[in-house]
Amino acid sequence: MTAEGVPHACEPKRAGSFPQEDATIAGNQSCRGDMNHAAIKDILTYSFFSENWGHIRPPRPPKDSCGGLPLDGAMEAVAQEIAERLRPAPFVRIVTHIDTDGITGGAIASEALDRANISHEVAFVKKLDDAVITDLKRQGTPLVWFIDLGAGMLHALHGLDAVITDHHVPTEREVPKALRGDLVRFTESQDRVLMLNPHLEGEGSDVASGAGCAYAVAKAISPENIDLAAIAVVGAVGDVQDQEFRRLSGYNRTILADGIAAGVLEAHIDLRLYGRETRPAYKMLQYATDPWIPRLSGNEEACIAFLLELGIDLKVEDHWRSWSDLDHGEKQRVVSALVSHMLERGCGIKEVERLAGETYTLAREPAGSPTRDAKEFGTLMNACGRYDQPEVGYRVCRGDREESLAQALRLLRGHREYLMDSMETIEEAGITQMEAIQYFHAADRIRDTVVGIAASMVLNREGASKDLPIIAFAQAEDGIKVSARTTRELVARGLDLAAVMQAASMAVGGQGGGHHGAAGATIPPGTEEKFLEVANRVVREQLGRAGSHFTSRDGEARESGRA
Ligand code: C5P
Ligand code: ZN
Repeated sequence: MTAEGVPHACEPKRAGSFPQEDATIAGNQSCRGDMNHAAIKDILTYSFFSENWGHIRPPRPPKDSCGGLPLDGAMEAVAQEIAERLRPAPFVRIVTHIDTDGITGGAIASEALDRANISHEVAFVKKLDDAVITDLKRQGTPLVWFIDLGAGMLHALHGLDAVITDHHVPTEREVPKALRGDLVRFTESQDRVLMLNPHLEGEGSDVASGAGCAYAVAKAISPENIDLAAIAVVGAVGDVQDQEFRRLSGYNRTILADGIAAGVLEAHIDLRLYGRETRPAYKMLQYATDPWIPRLSGNEEACIAFLLELGIDLKVEDHWRSWSDLDHGEKQRVVSALVSHMLERGCGIKEVERLAGETYTLAREPAGSPTRDAKEFGTLMNACGRYDQPEVGYRVCRGDREESLAQALRLLRGHREYLMDSMETIEEAGITQMEAIQYFHAADRIRDTVVGIAASMVLNREGASKDLPIIAFAQAEDGIKVSARTTRELVARGLDLAAVMQAASMAVGGQGGGHHGAAGATIPPGTEEKFLEVANRVVREQLGRAGSHFTSRDGEARESGRA
């Protein structure tokens, strides 16, 4: 399915008046007019409402991974080793990342150590660099527990006693210069660092988050810690690990099974839109971006009318009914109507399918609360991290439903306002189109921690083309932060933004990487132009190889689609 030279063949969309939540890959609007709607609708509605609908039994353990050991067996074996290292430690310093799976991972680790009476402290860092490591070495901590980071700095950890629970790609452990003449000491220093990481088991980053890796260790410390699976699933969902397949996979499914067994989690096939617990149902539709619903997304009145026509009561007394307030029959009517609505407006089956997927509920949290739905809880944690208040999110994970929860909700509201302002900033700055990419420079007007989500939001608005990946620049403490985002459709056609960011940043003396559809980099100030040149060329090559062609080099007249 291609967009064939026009943004998309579905009817024109309106820009959402409200930020989408943390979708790192903008929804694509791939369309398909030649399908038999009745047949597709039957298939989709059947799969939503047949045996799949509703409560899901605990999932089966993950498939065998390399070496014949099941993935969870391999992860849990390393987790046991780490637990044995932690138990006798007189003091443990937890060093964790400020994003959702770092915050939730820190909370899981700290809770597990508390329960085992192991003295510890938690520190949050934006990134693990040489300065942080030097500081840790200087402090002489008996044991450091790195969470959601560490794998990328293995080469710099010699001399530290450390355990790592991380899901990022590990660096090679080089023999440090100082130890090159002394391989005995080097081997000893290797033994002082233990790592649990799905990459070591031949798996990718999405089978477990930083929180999930920390959870494996918590469970090894005591099997009673399986109630912490709920927070681990918040970490996974906050890290959008359920986004690609519309459900969690790999070791995450073991965590989910544990959580269901412990009575702290439920999994359901349901609408995957953000705000199932806390938003009025019509608002949940209005802010839908993955998938984008023609005519409804961004259009409050249309969403209200759509639900009223289906006979859904929007309000009970003073209470706006949320999606979770609707009964099964009402949900069924709405989903069925949404499927028809999207198909009739030319949306492809793949796009329509994205309406539904596995959703995760924290069974012990009150109905309608912002901590009941894993996606909403994860977004709350993201807001805390983005505005440098990871401790607030951490305290919510540790159980504070009073002051810290109120503060986290304030941060989330502030985040939404900030995103709206960011949209204006981008409008003022303007989006410049090149041949194969488009970009904007936010300078110091959008935080480096928010510019990525702002970039994915503008892809859904007027003024940006969906046919080109978007690259955003913002000032950061350590240089210029770059964030790149694109649609699933372009990824399917061969675009790999991680490789683009890597190549372009390397060309200007920076560093970059990430995922195919969402990637980032940090580059020296003043190198943006050169960076764009390289990025433009690499994107052109990637899509060219996959069959797209561009008619012009000046970026004006441009054609895309399969040759
Ligand atoms: O910061 P942003 O949300 O744009 O990052 C998207 C992805 O790019 C993340 O997965 C992150 O790990 C990766 N990234 C990277 N190097 C950077 C910045 C981001 O690999 N300097
Ligand atoms: Zn992570």
